[in-house]
Amino acid sequence: MRAPATRSGRRAAAPTISARLATRVTLEMRAGGAIAACFDGFSVGLGTFSERAVHRAQELRTGLPLAGLAGAGSDVDREIERLVRRLAGRGLLEYGLRRPHGDEDFLVIEPQVPNYWPRTAELADADVLVLSRFAYLRRRGNQMVLESPRSAALFKIGDAKIAAAIASLAAPQRIKQFRRRDGFPGLQILALLVDCRILFKIETAGDSGLRASEGDDNLVLWDFQDLLFHTRSTQGRHANPLGGVYPYAGIIAPLPAVRPRWPGKKIDLRGFPSAPSPVAELLRRRHSTRSFDDRRPITLAELARFLDGTARVLSRSKIPADPAAGIPAVDYTARPYPSAGAGYELELYLAVNNCEGLPRGFYHYDAGGHALAAIGAAATELEAMLQGAQFAMGVHAAPQVLITVAARFARLSWKYSSLAYALVLRDTGVLLQTFYLMATDMELGGCAIGIADIELFAKMTGIEFHVEGPVGQFAIGRGSDSGISD
Ligand SMILES: Cc1cc2nc3c(=O)[nH]c(=O)nc-3n(C[C@H](O)[C@H](O)[C@H](O)COP(=O)(O)O)c2cc1C
Repeated sequence: MRAPATRSGRRAAAPTISARLATRVTLEMRAGGAIAACFDGFSVGLGTFSERAVHRAQELRTGLPLAGLAGAGSDVDREIERLVRRLAGRGLLEYGLRRPHGDEDFLVIEPQVPNYWPRTAELADADVLVLSRFAYLRRRGNQMVLESPRSAALFKIGDAKIAAAIASLAAPQRIKQFRRRDGFPGLQILALLVDCRILFKIETAGDSGLRASEGDDNLVLWDFQDLLFHTRSTQGRHANPLGGVYPYAGIIAPLPAVRPRWPGKKIDLRGFPSAPSPVAELLRRRHSTRSFDDRRPITLAELARFLDGTARVLSRSKIPADPAAGIPAVDYTARPYPSAGAGYELELYLAVNNCEGLPRGFYHYDAGGHALAAIGAAATELEAMLQGAQFAMGVHAAPQVLITVAARFARLSWKYSSLAYALVLRDTGVLLQTFYLMATDMELGGCAIGIADIELFAKMTGIEFHVEGPVGQFAIGRGSDSGISD
């Protein structure tokens, strides 16, 4: 890649990219050359290094130029590259871009997924670039950040001219012409942004860079706010704090558990007797169970009954085409739980840890055929998924079976605009309660889990996160003897 031309026609030298520790990370140098990364109360071992490498690792506080690591020459260089790659693999680094002779970074790349590494896409003067419709610039604190739910990294922009130049790519521009613009960010930054799918190349002449050029049909169907909501409210594709972290405790008081009552006349309902009913009794018995008795695992027969009762396809039908409205014939199913527009976009994936009669592994529930299909996910990924559930429930052992509820988003977004993702989440809530009630009825224990890792699921299934992905999880098994409803 050639250096970009300045307005006078000379090509400016490319900025230096340096890796440094993310602000929340510190390195701990231990006896014998062991180095550990400490962050958010955790400590992760990174290996053992020579005395010289340990000394040089201190530079990671301020920044180590990546160019110096490429094709690492000396033994110390190789050790440092190993250390930097390990830190990058866990998403513990950020990358500063600095102009030659500059004394501060004008752009900082903050990885949003583990394993992000700054890569530059191949670009030529004849290429036409346009901003992704998922990209957005916003204020964070007193900084301007450029991000996208499709991007593996966030770009903190410290130079308003660069922000303005990138914003001008809302309309497609050929690089050759774009170079002449005041604030041209340089080819290297454009190439980094293309790699992160914040910018994309238009391939065909006359393409206006709208929805259909950016990705597959599944991406075309996503609205901006829905894809952003999905990626920011799940784990795996952003680096923000997630879960019950009480960000405003001590600043804002919690709301009361029960809403203060409205003023005015009160109609007392307590005098009406509640008629005994099996449903009311089931609802009252329902509770979350997070610890399971691994000496008495759930059996395959129980799992089959549970899936049959909650999620199996009961019948199929076809709504005929409506040519006047331009709508083709659409297939539908009926299942035990309600679903928006009878879309039934939710799929069940089972991470089986301990189930009598079913080998440990990852399975898809074929709701039409009432069968389980094994998916060849790596054992380490299965372990990571089960551990995530254990961590979310705050218990000492993984559940016997973890059901991941994944959505085939396009099934709903093909029909609904604006509310498609909201409907997916509502359907998920309905299904979770159906699971709770069936588990209670079968004397099994279960617990809904609010956090799911969409990146891990994508790795395990080989399906891109915008095509089909987790929107909820449910742990199930035989509750431990204690009978404690924890
Ligand atoms: C959408 C949803 C997400 C939940 N996520 C979690 C979770 O991540 N970890 C957990 O331990 N419990 C989780 N729960 C269970 C709730 O903590 C539980 O329902 C609540 O404390 C009430 O207790 P009960 O279910 O025993 O009546 C979740 C429940 C729901 C409905």
